[in-house]
Amino acid sequence: MAMETGLIVHPYMRPERTARQTFDWCVQQAVAADKIGFDSIMLSEHASQRWENIPNPELIIAAAARQTENIKFAPMAHLLPHQHPAKLAIQVGWLSQILEGRYFLGVGAGAYPQSSYIHGIKNGEDTKFTNEMVRESLEIMEKIWKREPFFHEGRFWNAGYPEELHADDGDDQHKLADFSPWGGAPEIAVTGFSANSPSMRFAGERGFRPVSIFSGLEALKTHWETYREAAEANGHVADRARYHVSQTVFVADTDKEAKRQVMEGPIGYCFERYLIPIWWRFHMMDGFIKDAGADPADVDLEWVVDNVFCVGSPDTVVEKINRLFEATGGWGTLQVESHDYYDDPAPWFNSLELIAKEVAPRISLPTGVQA
Ligand SMILES: Cc1cc2nc3c(=O)[nH]c(=O)nc-3n(C[C@H](O)[C@H](O)[C@H](O)COP(=O)(O)O)c2cc1C
Repeated sequence: MAMETGLIVHPYMRPERTARQTFDWCVQQAVAADKIGFDSIMLSEHASQRWENIPNPELIIAAAARQTENIKFAPMAHLLPHQHPAKLAIQVGWLSQILEGRYFLGVGAGAYPQSSYIHGIKNGEDTKFTNEMVRESLEIMEKIWKREPFFHEGRFWNAGYPEELHADDGDDQHKLADFSPWGGAPEIAVTGFSANSPSMRFAGERGFRPVSIFSGLEALKTHWETYREAAEANGHVADRARYHVSQTVFVADTDKEAKRQVMEGPIGYCFERYLIPIWWRFHMMDGFIKDAGADPADVDLEWVVDNVFCVGSPDTVVEKINRLFEATGGWGTLQVESHDYYDDPAPWFNSLELIAKEVAPRISLPTGVQA
C-alpha cells in the first residue's frame, strides 16, 4: 500500500498575521488539500505561542467541513489537561457526528508550560504529571461516550452521566441528547515527542494511532519500539500503516528551485526566527546532529534544509523518504508540516500537488516490517 498524505497545521503563521488571516489560511489549505487528494489534515491547539496561533482547532474543522468532500480532520492535539473532559467529550462527539466519519481525535499533554500555566497548571513541565491528567481525562470522556450512568470523583475532575428518565406519554423533557461519537467511539491518535515517550507507551497500551514529530532516526526507532512493545503486551497489533510522522517537506520541479523556495520563503523565515531555537530547546537538534555526525557549530538554516528536511524535485524527495524508511521501518502517513504561504499560496499548493501525485504513490512500507 502506498504511503498516505496528510497536512499538519500548527500553523507557523508570522506573528503579525491577524486571527482572521490565520483562520482563512487554515480553511483555504483544507479545501486545497481535499481537492488535491490528501487523506488527512491535523490542526494544532495552542494558547500561548505567537507562531502557533490556533487556540481552537475545532472551529477551523467545522468551517472547513462544509467546503470539503473526502479529507479527514483531526485536532492534533486537543490538550486534555487544559479543559474539562465532559465539555470536550460532548464537543468531540458532536463534531464527529457533523463530519459523518471524516473525523479522528488527537490527544496530547501539551508541549508548552506557559499554556498549562494559563489553564491553572503550575507544573506544566512535569510531563509525568500532565500525562496522568491525560489518562484521567480520557477515562471520563470514554465513560460519557458510553451514555451509561456513572459519577466520577477524580483527582483532577468530577464528571458523570445521569439516568435517563422515560415517560410513555410523549413528554420528551427528560430525554438525553445523544452526543456520542459517530460510529460509537472515535479513532484516537496520540502525539509522541520525547525520546522515552510516555505518550507512545500510552498509545500502544490502548491500541491508539501513534503520531510522532520527526526528530531524528534514533527517536523514531525508539518511539516505534516503545509503541510496539506496549501494544503487543496489551493484545493489540502494532501496524505501521497507522503510524503518522510529521516532517518538513517541500517539492518543486528541480532541486535548486525547491531549495531556493525553502531558504528564501516562509519556511526559512519561520525556522530562522522560531523553529531552530525551539529545536535546540527541546533537544530535537541533538538527534539530527547525531544522525549526520555533524559539528553543532555547523548547524544553520542551510544545514537543516540539506540534512533534515525532505526538499527537492519529486525524484529527490522519493529517494530521501525511502532512505528514512529503510533506516527506521517507515510509516503509513507522511504528515507534511504546513507554513505561512498566505501571501502567495501557489508554490505551496504546487508542492502539495507534487507530494500527493508524484511522491507518495512511489513510496510504500519496506516489506517485512509491517509490525
Ligand atoms: C504531531 C504532534 C502534534 C502536537 N501538537 C501539539 C499541540 O497542538 N499543542 C501542544 O501543546 N503540543 C502538541 N504536541 C506535543 C504534545 O502535546 C506533547 O507534549 C508530546 O506529544 C508529549 O510527548 P511525549 O510523551 O513523547 O513526551 C504535539 C506533538 C506531536 C508529535
